[in-house]
Amino acid sequence: MDLQFARHRRLRSSEGMRAMMRETFLRPEDFIYPIFVVEGENKRNAVASMPGVEQVSLDHLNTEMQELVDLGIRSVIVFGVPDYKDAVGSEAYHDHGIVQKAIRQIKESFPDLTVVADTCLCQYTDHGHCGVIEEGKILNDPSLDLLARTAVSQAKAGADIIAPSNMMDGFTAAIRKGLDENGFEDVPVMSYAVKYASAFYGPFRDAAHSTPQFGDRKTYQMDPANRLEAMREAESDVREGADFLIVKPALSYLDIMRDVKNSFNLPIVAYNVSGEYSMIKAAAQNGWVDEKAIVLEKLTSMKRAGADLIITYHAKDAARWLKEQ
Ligand code: PBG
Repeated sequence: MDLQFARHRRLRSSEGMRAMMRETFLRPEDFIYPIFVVEGENKRNAVASMPGVEQVSLDHLNTEMQELVDLGIRSVIVFGVPDYKDAVGSEAYHDHGIVQKAIRQIKESFPDLTVVADTCLCQYTDHGHCGVIEEGKILNDPSLDLLARTAVSQAKAGADIIAPSNMMDGFTAAIRKGLDENGFEDVPVMSYAVKYASAFYGPFRDAAHSTPQFGDRKTYQMDPANRLEAMREAESDVREGADFLIVKPALSYLDIMRDVKNSFNLPIVAYNVSGEYSMIKAAAQNGWVDEKAIVLEKLTSMKRAGADLIITYHAKDAARWLKEQ
């Protein structure tokens, strides 16, 4: 035959051959599992829009953590769902706030788990915005002091990593300074450096009770249409001392993840957000997609796009499936 073409199928001819040629792998150590902690006792509140996700009270937390450890998951990110909210989000930086209590308890019982603290105000403010407000405007600089206080109180409680998600300008610098001045120079900052104003956060706001009571987050979170802006955001966070860069959401932003990966020599973290999770759960419950196959495919695609770590609600299922394989 004189027709010349490449025979790519030679290298896909058997499972053995495909295993040899595989370029990207998932490990349970790649996953950071998000948990929602609530005040009170004996609570396991199912989150309706996120099948399989619950808010748990502290008396159930250790059972939950043991399950993760048994699956080989090494890290959690903690979101507090406080009972009390006010205009300045004071529960966020209270030494006995729900998040601080949860972090302390996890580190006491599971010292080897790496605990990431989400640092934001929106669950703690009565208006649901990520900063303080004056005349309907979300103020930047006054919010920074509160965020730094929150980070320091989380580090005091034992958080191994501080993950600021609020998108005020200068939050990484302010938090880094706060940590350093309080003796936490060894606590890294995992910055939500590139965070878009996304409709994919909808179910999370049910889980965390953090829906803004007026307006939206478009003056601080990014426009999904923008790529250069993502590079500017990442660049300033690197300059301000970030140790990790988060790209969020993940699935619709894999191009951005690759750009960030190629431009900065820091570990990249994909946040596989609530809406991305819930869409697959809903389709799977209807029998429309093969949940295991689709979840492992999408998590693999995030690593292929440049993620070193993935924050994902699928972590427990994925770790179980990886174990079975
Ligand atoms: C807090 C925060 C949000 C998410 C993580 N941290 C919500 C938001 O910005 O509105 C979303 C996570 C998800 O959708 O899974 N600012």
